[in-house]
Amino acid sequence: MNPPAIAIDGPAASGKSTVAKLIAKELGYTFINTGAMYRAVTWYILQKGITPTDTAAVLSALPGIPLSFGKEGANSTVVYEGRVLTTELTEKSTNDNVSAIASIPEVRALLVEKQREYNTREAVVMEGRDIGTVVFPHTPFKYFVTASEEVRAARRAAEGITDSIAERDRKDSQRACAPLVQAEDALLVDTSDMNINEVVAYIISDIQRKIN
Ligand code: DC
Repeated sequence: MNPPAIAIDGPAASGKSTVAKLIAKELGYTFINTGAMYRAVTWYILQKGITPTDTAAVLSALPGIPLSFGKEGANSTVVYEGRVLTTELTEKSTNDNVSAIASIPEVRALLVEKQREYNTREAVVMEGRDIGTVVFPHTPFKYFVTASEEVRAARRAAEGITDSIAERDRKDSQRACAPLVQAEDALLVDTSDMNINEVVAYIISDIQRKIN
């Protein structure tokens, strides 16, 4: 049996990354940011001059894609040519094209395999869009973290990131393969009127109740 996997899903800028990171820290688990994995593939495809909506061209670049998914301390990383990718992952061109790349089933299959691999070795808090529905459908620890569109737009603006979150959410929710959707057995956490500490405490108490 694999170590525990905590699945945290939700729309863009819902606060799920911050929350997931803090929960991982408190539990001593590894934090895995799966959005960064889709973003890294997108960045690489753009670097190669490939049009992200040209599925055939994307597919031909996938085998042996020179990205490695590791970790530094207790956080997941994506490494390209010996360098951990950081600012590349939130460039406007990456934001604008990541939903197209994430809608390709072969890209998802590749990354889901990498995501499950982490959990064969260690307990994880993994955040994304399909963690509770596809990556770990059998975990009892599923949380769907959301917030109103206004609150999410304000949070992104405060981070100084230009990102059409409504448009990205629409594409992520409407894609055929593993769309953004709340798993039936996930606990819904609306963070619009909660601060980060309250959200973390709420989720941790549910995890502890289920573990005990
Ligand atoms: O969490 P994020 O905003 O960094 O994710 C970037 C994009 O990656 C998001 O718009 C959709 C895609 N994504 C996905 O399809 N599945 C995941 N598990 C995580 C992210």
